[in-house]
Amino acid sequence: MPTIPDAVPSQGADREKQVRTIFSDIAPRYDLLNHVLSMNVDRAWRRRAVDTLGWTDRPGGTYLDACAGTFDLGLELARRGAFQGRIVASDFARPMLVAGRDKLEGAAVAPVCGDTLRLPFPDASFDGATVGFGVRNLSDLDAGFREFHRVLKPGARLVVLEFTVPPNPVVRAGYMLYFTRILPVVGRIVSGHPWAYTYLPESVKEFPGPDELAAKLESAGFAESGYALVTFGIAAIHWARKEGPRGPGS
Ligand SMILES: C[S@@+](CC[C@H](N)C(=O)[O-])C[C@H]1O[C@@H](n2cnc3c(N)ncnc32)[C@H](O)[C@@H]1O
Repeated sequence: MPTIPDAVPSQGADREKQVRTIFSDIAPRYDLLNHVLSMNVDRAWRRRAVDTLGWTDRPGGTYLDACAGTFDLGLELARRGAFQGRIVASDFARPMLVAGRDKLEGAAVAPVCGDTLRLPFPDASFDGATVGFGVRNLSDLDAGFREFHRVLKPGARLVVLEFTVPPNPVVRAGYMLYFTRILPVVGRIVSGHPWAYTYLPESVKEFPGPDELAAKLESAGFAESGYALVTFGIAAIHWARKEGPRGPGS
């Protein structure tokens, strides 16, 4: 029988190491599993997340997609007809970037291997930032939000797309059944990884709800934060703005 660790630690360097190992291991099957397990609704969520970013104010700007994985969120922005800027797509699991790189042909997306908790960019570098299904994995969520705040220009927006637990008890019961019984089994068979898809529902259950997450964004220095629940509250799209006047646009 495969070894199943007790739990992925909730904080600290051990958690970072475990998370990086999980995503490095499942990278070759990540895209397939992502679309199958979400029944493709993740595509609609990504579209809406990009719509929320307000990039049309700065179509020639430089945007960050952190915890970029295989680039689906960055590419959703890069492929918008009026977009003329560039996207820096960072992730600390190099195999995820490698698994997605064939999709980048001709797209203005530059991959960078880096940790979201120590983003390798100067202060006020970006006109906006996105993170899809990434912040749930951070070993220190508050530090992660402070890092996003640091690298954004004044007035720029952060958009966070993340799973959440549906508020309606009936939907929640069905969702939990799927998430804790079906998804780990399908994930194990397709990915070949013994427990990565057990980590996914565990990490969602442990993660702060949308109101708490919004409060954390404000504590990190963001203003005008808000969120929308999507698909019966299975996921949430959060947005927040770094205070200050926007400089001249590009
Ligand atoms: C569930 S995947 C999401 C990938 C992509 N954003 C998407 O929407 O499909 C989470 C990604 O976050 C990355 N990640 C988790 N913690 C990270 C950290 N501290 N720094 C950089 N990347 C991180 C993982 O390596 C993984 O590629």
